[in-house]
Amino acid sequence: MSFSIERYKEESKKLDTSGIDWQAVTASPLSKGDLFCLHYMMDIENHVPLYLSHLLVTRACMDPILTAFLACWNYEELWHGENLGKLLNLYGIEFDAQDRIANVRANLGFQNSVSILSTMVGSWLLKDFSAVYLTIGAINELSTLTGYAALIRKSGHPVLKDLLGRIIKDERRHYAFYFNSAKEWLTGNEKAQRVDRWMLNRFWVPVGQGVKTQEQVDALALYLFDDEQGEEDLLALDEKIGKLPGLAGIELMSRALYAARERRRQDPEWAWRLIDNEEWAVASPKKSPIGELTTRRTRGGTALSAVEGT
Ligand SMILES: [Fe+2]
Ligand SMILES: [Fe+2]
Repeated sequence: MSFSIERYKEESKKLDTSGIDWQAVTASPLSKGDLFCLHYMMDIENHVPLYLSHLLVTRACMDPILTAFLACWNYEELWHGENLGKLLNLYGIEFDAQDRIANVRANLGFQNSVSILSTMVGSWLLKDFSAVYLTIGAINELSTLTGYAALIRKSGHPVLKDLLGRIIKDERRHYAFYFNSAKEWLTGNEKAQRVDRWMLNRFWVPVGQGVKTQEQVDALALYLFDDEQGEEDLLALDEKIGKLPGLAGIELMSRALYAARERRRQDPEWAWRLIDNEEWAVASPKKSPIGELTTRRTRGGTALSAVEGT
């Protein structure tokens, strides 16, 4: 698996959706589980700029190759979220994408600031912190594309299959970058390998956790991966990450699935109730109206830009 940053910079572009049969979105049904996963995935794709804000307070910002990648990567991820939202809207689920994104962010509140600060401190204290976020990047991209492939399989929806197939190609390139960069950092660097393994075993969480609750993460994991094929996919994923220097035999995604199964065993309603009750709306923030949290304040409910015709 090779990766060239020069080629990536030249070829990076907005997701090509030409030829997708958007009109056929309503011709095939999506189950409650499919819809739950799509909302989760859209929210996490749309959360990438905030994840980026974490990376840019680390030593990552010193590396021009990494920042060039992040500039293109952030743009590509934007169009993943946009198109998942478009598909949901066309399917008949009404929401305002901008309000939803703002609400997800506003609900993070203080926790987001603490998380940025601790990432910053960790990075400046530990020289090999780079190995950790590069490895986490590889795991996140690989688990995202594995999740999309699982959703294609579960839903059997032709338009979703077409869209996710295109997104998966982007995610593969992202994975290649992170994996190769992590490998480069870890090769011949035993201290970094030890730090990486230790941090992953203690602090790693599946992609989206923190923005989503444990029960939401488990609902996604159990819907997509709680069958023979799904479990195999996650074991294969761990095996791929285990090929990084110092990470042989590491169990991350498979361990997350087994932990989700255990929580459901203790409470049979766990996770599935979110899917059954169609709990994919994002609540408005308790403290501040959304207008106060964004630059787009409104007058009498109408956006300023619309009032002023800009
Ligand atoms: Fe993405
Ligand atoms: Fe990605």
